[in-house]
Amino acid sequence: MSDSDAVRPFVVGIIGGGQLARMMHQAAIGLGVRTRLLAEGCDVSAAQVVADVTVGDYTDPATVTAFAAGCDVITFDHEHVPAAILRELEASGKAVRPGPAALVHAQDKVLMRERLSAFGAPCPVFRVVPDEAALVAFGDEQGWPVIAKTSRGGYDGKGVWKLDGPEQAAEPFARLGEGVQVLAEEHVDFARELSALVVRSPSGQAVAYPVSESVQRDGVCVETTTPAPGLTEEQATSAQHLALAIAAELEVVGLLAVELMQRRDGSVVVNELAMRPHNTGHWSIDGAHTSQFENHLRAVLDLPLGDPVARQPWTVMGNVLGGTEEDLPSALLHCFARDRRLRVHLYGKEVKPGRKVGHVTTFGSDLDDVRRRARHAAGYLRGDHDA
Ligand SMILES: Nc1ncnc2c1ncn2[C@@H]1O[C@H](COP(=O)(O)OP(=O)(O)O)[C@@H](O)[C@H]1O
Ligand SMILES: [Mg+2]
Repeated sequence: MSDSDAVRPFVVGIIGGGQLARMMHQAAIGLGVRTRLLAEGCDVSAAQVVADVTVGDYTDPATVTAFAAGCDVITFDHEHVPAAILRELEASGKAVRPGPAALVHAQDKVLMRERLSAFGAPCPVFRVVPDEAALVAFGDEQGWPVIAKTSRGGYDGKGVWKLDGPEQAAEPFARLGEGVQVLAEEHVDFARELSALVVRSPSGQAVAYPVSESVQRDGVCVETTTPAPGLTEEQATSAQHLALAIAAELEVVGLLAVELMQRRDGSVVVNELAMRPHNTGHWSIDGAHTSQFENHLRAVLDLPLGDPVARQPWTVMGNVLGGTEEDLPSALLHCFARDRRLRVHLYGKEVKPGRKVGHVTTFGSDLDDVRRRARHAAGYLRGDHDA
């Protein structure tokens, strides 16, 4: 065999250099998979750890095409790469996973709502509203408060408004970008939020993670508990089936997160979809037999998927949000001294108020104890030493 025929490792190109890419890279190491990164800057979270980094603009077709040339498959840290660029890559024969035809449903909340409701997935009452008057009419029909969202570009609660009355209906239209619509939704008075994560490979194999409960504060996930406490087996299975059905219907490849709102009567409606590893799946790094990051990589490489089942009765993940503690490394001293089973993942990001800079994971058989430990550690790392 000549050198040019030499067996070479898979090369996965990841677009976006945040913590999701960083943790994907961590999973790639164990699989002997090489990663290439298209990053926003040379010092972003994943660029600190991946050897092969291109700094460039993911909205520029030439940059993305040149980046993709050396990769076996392209996948994502975020959902913001324009679909037109991805369609062209796909047409040129490059594997893009998830593909643009699926990904648009995670990029555009209007397309997502239309497709899911046509397919029979439970959604809140919704309507695309062209202007303030139409939004007021929707609120008057449905009853206030209502939720308004921009169709594209939102994240972590940015681009979502709870409107208490007609006098607030101008706000969502104030700074609309080109091609962005406003989606009005019934305000779901949910008991809690759930998250159903599934992974699907190109050959159609799929696995479902145990359903998690997630708590958001100011639109940002702060804590997850897996499995969701008090969820009946029937409810859990039905949420998993719903997520598997959406993944199959949209032909998603890789991880699909279905964010759900559970009403007080126990029924669920879909909030939104994400097609990449998800914050509510971080527990799986330490808590599941196969992490969401490893299964996402296996899926995009069409390798058999690993067991998503939890190793322990309860796993709690606490996000470390930027607070008053800037010296995370020395805060570790206290956290590790206090809890020898605590797992900590720091993302190498500069601490800024409210920014996701890491997460902690605890697990065990006593839920109260597992939660207390996660809350203490996440709070301490934030600078709240009495947590
Ligand atoms: N129709 C709704 N009714 C009640 N709360 C909602 C509704 N839609 C969204 N929310 C709340 O707003 C949060 C953020 O909305 P989401 O569409 O997931 O935006 P983002 O893209 O910022 O994550 C949700 O996690 C949920 O807490
Ligand atoms: Mg969301």
